[in-house]
Amino acid sequence: MRPWFEDAKLGIFIHYGIYAVDGVSESWSFHNGVISYEEYMKQLNGFTASRFDADQWAELIERSGAKYAVLTTKHHDGVALFDTQYSGLSVVKRTPAERDIVKEYAEAIKKRGIRLGMYYSLIDWSHPDYPSVYPSGVVPEDLNQVNRFSEPLDGIQDEERWQSFLEFNRNQLKEILTRYGAVDLLWFDGDWERSAEQWGLPEFKTYLRSFNPDLIFNSRLAGHGDYKTPEQGLPITRPEGPWEFCTTINTSWGYQPKDHNYKSLNQMIRMFCDCISMGGNMLLNIGPREDGTIDSRQVDILLGLGDWIRTHEEAVYGTAEGIMTRYWLGGSTLSKDRRTLYLFVYDDPKESVCLKGLCNPIRKITVLHTGKELNYDIHGGVPWFNIPGTTWIYMTPEDCHAQVTVLKLEFAEPIEMYGGSGAVVTHN
Ligand code: GLC
Repeated sequence: MRPWFEDAKLGIFIHYGIYAVDGVSESWSFHNGVISYEEYMKQLNGFTASRFDADQWAELIERSGAKYAVLTTKHHDGVALFDTQYSGLSVVKRTPAERDIVKEYAEAIKKRGIRLGMYYSLIDWSHPDYPSVYPSGVVPEDLNQVNRFSEPLDGIQDEERWQSFLEFNRNQLKEILTRYGAVDLLWFDGDWERSAEQWGLPEFKTYLRSFNPDLIFNSRLAGHGDYKTPEQGLPITRPEGPWEFCTTINTSWGYQPKDHNYKSLNQMIRMFCDCISMGGNMLLNIGPREDGTIDSRQVDILLGLGDWIRTHEEAVYGTAEGIMTRYWLGGSTLSKDRRTLYLFVYDDPKESVCLKGLCNPIRKITVLHTGKELNYDIHGGVPWFNIPGTTWIYMTPEDCHAQVTVLKLEFAEPIEMYGGSGAVVTHN
């Protein structure tokens, strides 16, 4: 695992595709029968990318504070955003856009020193060799009786067609990995329809790494990924190892103009703090319109998050997960040397905030965005049993940032937290 990934904290996910033309859900709308496949594909005619400006995207991503970006180079619908020679189904060949979106994106992203990520759907609901297995194991006469677009793992596989499909995937991925400069991250999706063995793992991974040994893979690779990818629901327990939480700003991945269910900036910042408090990254999604422009509500969230991050940079990048919420009722991060503790204050305090279980003397407490030093008292504790008291840090709503306030606690040595259950006093 490359260290840049865990230090990055924020990435921007981009779901861009023909589904933005009618504002229907990406690929799933035909898969789930909301519209027919034919109707879905008619959107090819309306995909213009007429105002797509990769530099503007990259600038927005940079200003959001994100250190990496991940673009849907091909979703489950099989429509490539790049000029692939292995399929006729691309926005270059089949839409009025006639542009290699991936190429422009990759150039703009790299120019700003942002890490380059590519989303690629392993499943392809348009490829003729993909539906090679049917639920009963037998190809039924009436295809409408089955889900034409997905297969169970225990179905009977047409081996020849399956192998040719795998080759197709490898070829397209080779294009993605060799044409646009070094790719830092491959973000797979759709592994669930087949087993690791069917996907040809682990050889498949070795093949992809042959183009770039530093390549990172998300977890949707039938158990062979490099980090966990919880989606939409914030994890309550810290996932093991490196991880990344992917989330939408409203409820849709692709652009859906009818979806007005937006999270507020404050909610997004708190969610971000929750992720980094547990040592994770947040991969925040935007869904551009078909012409390449981005809804101002999404732009505002990215800019607002970026402003907050810039003000609190040292509490964000390169930090390690913080202390448990039983010590501090909020989020927190630690500097890697554990000599600085950053506490996230989400709500307005009454007169003080409370930190328990801290074993080390504090050098100084400041409000990060103003530099104001705060007073504190330590009450209780049983020093002869090494049981620390409770630290009460005095702060009032006037000390607070408009979004999330960060308190910076400095120490002379790496901090330790008390894990005991208190002194047991027995009376005879
Ligand atoms: C889900 C969906 C897909 C979306 C992805 C993003 O797996 O299949 O539409 O692209 O989540 O994480």
